[in-house]
Formats: sequence, C-alpha cells, structure tokens
Amino acid sequence: MKQIQRRSWAEPFKIKSVEPLRMTTREEREQTIKEAGYNTFLLRSRDVYIDLLTDSGTNAMSDFQWAGMMLGDEAYAGSENYYNLEKAVQEFYGYKHLVPTHQGRGAENLISQILIKKGDYVPGNMYFTTTRLHQELAGGNFVDVIIDEAHDPQNTFPFKGNVDLQKYENLIKKVGAEKIAYITIGATVNMAGGQPISMENLRAVFQLSQKNKIKVVFDATRAMENAFFIKKREKGYENKTIKEILLEMCSYSDAATMSGKKDLLVNIGGFLAINDDAIFEEARNMVVIYEGLHTYGGLAGRDMEAMARGIQEACQLDHLQARIGQVEYVGNRLLELGIPIVTPIGGHAIFLDAKKFYPQLEQLKFPAQTLAAELYLDSGIRAMERGIVSAGRNKETGDHYYPKLELVRLTFPRRVYTQAHCDVTVESVYEVWQNRESVKGLKMIYEPKYLRFFQARFEKL
Ligand code: F0G
Repeated sequence: MKQIQRRSWAEPFKIKSVEPLRMTTREEREQTIKEAGYNTFLLRSRDVYIDLLTDSGTNAMSDFQWAGMMLGDEAYAGSENYYNLEKAVQEFYGYKHLVPTHQGRGAENLISQILIKKGDYVPGNMYFTTTRLHQELAGGNFVDVIIDEAHDPQNTFPFKGNVDLQKYENLIKKVGAEKIAYITIGATVNMAGGQPISMENLRAVFQLSQKNKIKVVFDATRAMENAFFIKKREKGYENKTIKEILLEMCSYSDAATMSGKKDLLVNIGGFLAINDDAIFEEARNMVVIYEGLHTYGGLAGRDMEAMARGIQEACQLDHLQARIGQVEYVGNRLLELGIPIVTPIGGHAIFLDAKKFYPQLEQLKFPAQTLAAELYLDSGIRAMERGIVSAGRNKETGDHYYPKLELVRLTFPRRVYTQAHCDVTVESVYEVWQNRESVKGLKMIYEPKYLRFFQARFEKL
C-alpha cells in the first residue's frame, strides 16, 4: 500500500523583510515590451511582476549575512573580511589561493588572459556566454565536448552535464595537448538546462587531463547545487555531506572561477581560486589592473563578508532541498500540463522548449526571444532567452550559431519567491502555451557586437 505522507514540505526560513510587487495591465505591458525592443533585459524592473530573468545577484540574504554586512572592514588593503572569505574558500572549496573579483566574468577574464595563447583551444562542457567570450578575446577557440544527450531536451540521462571523454580525447589527438590551454568544466551546466556533471565524470576528466598535462578550470558557479544532485543521484554519495562532495568535486581541478551571485546567496561578488603558486602570483598581480587590489578585487569589505557567510549557508542540505525543490515543483506542474520543458528538471531553472511551442517559426524568427516576450505580455513575468540570440555568431565566419537548444529560462532566485508565485507562473506559462498557434515571431533590428542577447532589439513580425 502506498504510504501516506503526513507532512507537507515547507521552506526552511521565515520572512523578516518584504518588498512590494507591482502589477501592470496588459496595455501597459504592450507598451513597455515594445519600448524594450522585445528584449526582457531592456525592461525596467519596476515594470516586472515576478522576475525570473536570472538567479544571479537576485537572492535574498539571511539575517546572518546582513549582520555580517555591518562588520565590513572597508580598508583599501588587508580587510579582515578578505581573510574570512579566504578561510571559507579554503575550507569549503579546498583551493589554496584566493583572488576576489567583482563577479564571475572578472575571474574568467584573469584566467583566460593568463593561460590562453593566441590560437589555443579551450574545450568545455557546453559554452557559457561570458566564459567563451573571454576565451575568444584572449585568442582561444572554444570546443564543445559535452555529451550528445545534453543537446536533446527530452533525453532524461541524470548527468547531462558530463564531458564526452571520447570527444575530449579526439581533440587532444587532433590538435595536440600543448595547443590546449585548459579545459573548462561547468557544474549544473547552465546552457544545457542546469544539468549536473557526475563525480565519476569529473574524476575521469581530471585523470585524462593530468595524463596530458592539461589544466582543469572548474566553473564552480553552481557547484553546491551540483553537489546536491550527486548526493541524490550518484551511487556512493547518498550519505556524504554537501561539503564533502563539494571538496571532492573541486579536488579534480587546478583552479576555479566563481560567480558568487548564484550559489553563494549574495547580490554581488566572485572569485578566482587557484592551487598553483605561479599562476596565483600572476593573477594577484593582474587583478590590480582590472578589479582592484588583491585583497578586495572590486568588492567592498561587507560584500566579501556576506559571501563568506553565504558559503556556509549555501551548503546546508535543507537550503538546497528547498531551493532545488521549488524548481522541481514548478517543473512537475508544467509537465503535468503537457508543456514541453527540458528534462530532467534542472537545478536553478525551468527551461521551456521554444521549438516545441512554436514549430511554425524557423530559428531566425527567434522562437525563444518571442516566447519570453509573450510570457511577459501575458502576466508581467520576466524570463530569459537561451537560444540563437544568446549563442551569438561564429567569430571566424560571422554567421549565427544555430544551437540545437532554443530555450526560455524561468530562473528562480534563491529564497525570494513563494509557492503561490510559482503557481501564478505555471498558470501564465499554460496560458501562453494555449495561445501558441497565432504567434508570428520577431525580427532583429539592432545587434551589438559582444554578448548580443543583453542589448539586441527586435520588432514584431
Ligand atoms: N558561469 C556561469 C555558469 C554563469 O551562469 C555565469 C553567469 C557566469 C559564469 C558569469 O558570472 O555573471 O557573475 O559575471 N550567469 C548569469 C545567468 C548571468 O543569468 O545565468 P557573472
């Protein structure tokens, strides 16, 4: 007999401070999204009802973190908060050296410039927008070595973030290990739908890299959330703590870039963490040019303190369970309604399959961009395009990349929205799904040179 669950699940926190939300009318939204060139990045936040644009820097801090903000040691050099952060990074991530940066891309810039020579190759488990751009600006060529399953929204493999070792080995054979600057390994791979990488795969990638003297740079941005999936899905890890799993994950890399704005429950902050003394020396010197002195890297003392405290909270199991549980709740409700999303449900977001919403639109009519605009028009909910606009252009040929995945991301900030907000979101997505047949797509009328998805403008066809 099926066991009856006697208790519902609930968030492991209560709310101490609130921020009012503003609802708009459909007429108002028609005006605001038109003015924003049908790009949700160009909307004013005051015109948004539920903001699912990103989980980056949008998290709610705890009272413990806010209390830490008051202990900011705002010294130009040698702030106490830097040492607190260094200690937390060493304890939880296990790397030897810390270089703080204002956010993730600051760290990506440093490591790309230090390790990449013109014409080098940089393999990775799917591209991330800023990561690949910094690699290219440093003269590198990104090569996708993620498993094929990752490009298929319906494939339910539990570790769709894994590296295809054969693809990686083929690249080493083809170009030679000395032409590979390093391999970037992302956790809960963002562009694949928040899909985790397994410990077994991390270990194998590291072994193959070491054998060929290739460095592994870990994008630890959502590594805590990846550790949670390893605990839930990988044999042998059920009884390990998130902290133990995270330490083992990081042990299979030489350095990490980190956007603290995600996992670490802060609004700003990031770092580069490194084991090698010589690379650290260089990064510590270079950070002074781009970010600030090596003991603050573009952050205020209080920001470093909030991040140091965030590290401790982020790896608590009840937090991760609630965070990933919320995303799962939305995903399961959408699946019940027959709405096409990327499966398995990812860690930080639900990814709507825009190709399935709008089979009538070819990719150059921007199905995902269109879907994000339609969702906003319906309810004021803001999502993000993750399809052909985000993919950008091939820097050699100048042609668009045509990614297999044409997705809209509903990204959940941590500890911000309630289950009722989730229900409203599901209802709005359902409404947009029901009205899918009449949709005609968009035309791009302005395209910036770098990371075009942030600022491109469109018109309705
Ligand atoms: N790596 C990953 C996997 C990311 O998701 C991001 C940011 C970065 C690096 C760059 O970090 O923004 O602090 O400079 N992702 C955000 C997002 C923008 O919405 O997914 P950053």
